Amino acid sequence: MSGVRRLVVGISGATGIAYGVRVLELARKAGVQTHLVVTPAGQQTRAYETGLSAGDLAAMADVTYRPADIGAAIASGSFRTAGMIVAPCSIRTLSAVAYANNDNLLTRAADVTLEERRRLVLMVRETPLTLAHLRAMTAVTEMGGIVMPPVPAFYLNPESVADIVDHTAGRALEVLGVDVPELPRRGE
Ligand SMILES: Cc1cc2nc3c(=O)[nH]c(=O)nc-3n(C[C@H](O)[C@H](O)[C@H](O)COP(=O)(O)O)c2cc1C
Repeated sequence: MSGVRRLVVGISGATGIAYGVRVLELARKAGVQTHLVVTPAGQQTRAYETGLSAGDLAAMADVTYRPADIGAAIASGSFRTAGMIVAPCSIRTLSAVAYANNDNLLTRAADVTLEERRRLVLMVRETPLTLAHLRAMTAVTEMGGIVMPPVPAFYLNPESVADIVDHTAGRALEVLGVDVPELPRRGE
């Protein structure tokens, strides 16, 4: 990653909060500062899917914001970042980003990322997909966003769910320009 070593991380209420947790861990390991916003639905999946408290999750980031804090630094394009990742990204958040419905700090920060022509990675998790979902993905892609569903790579012969999560989170960070040396690669 060149330039400012700072990423915005959004966690929304799709299943798979483990992806967001791993992104935070790998970013910290890589020396990248993280600015986190978790939606209320994201807090629900945290409670369902992890043993982490809200405080534990917040402690994994350098700075954490409330979703209602619409005046926070990351709501402004003048706050310099290398980009933003939403992991996992719900269809509700995807749709809000697709149509610039900046109804909370996460969606506002994502809109600003697109405005500033910075990298935006949305780890959208839903299946099966409807035409509405696909149209929202198309709209985000047309604006320069990167729709990156967490789809496992079986050629790496993962031995655990953690292996699958690691690989997807690491790949997403590399798309954002963060070097993840421990990432397994085909042919290496
Ligand atoms: C346990 C649980 C799992 C969910 N999984 C998904 C999912 O995989 N994808 C999705 O789009 N929504 C999922 N939802 C629904 C979203 O949480 C819901 O649409 C919510 O309004 C999203 O709000 P947010 O985008 O502000 O986080 C799930 C909800 C719960 C409680």
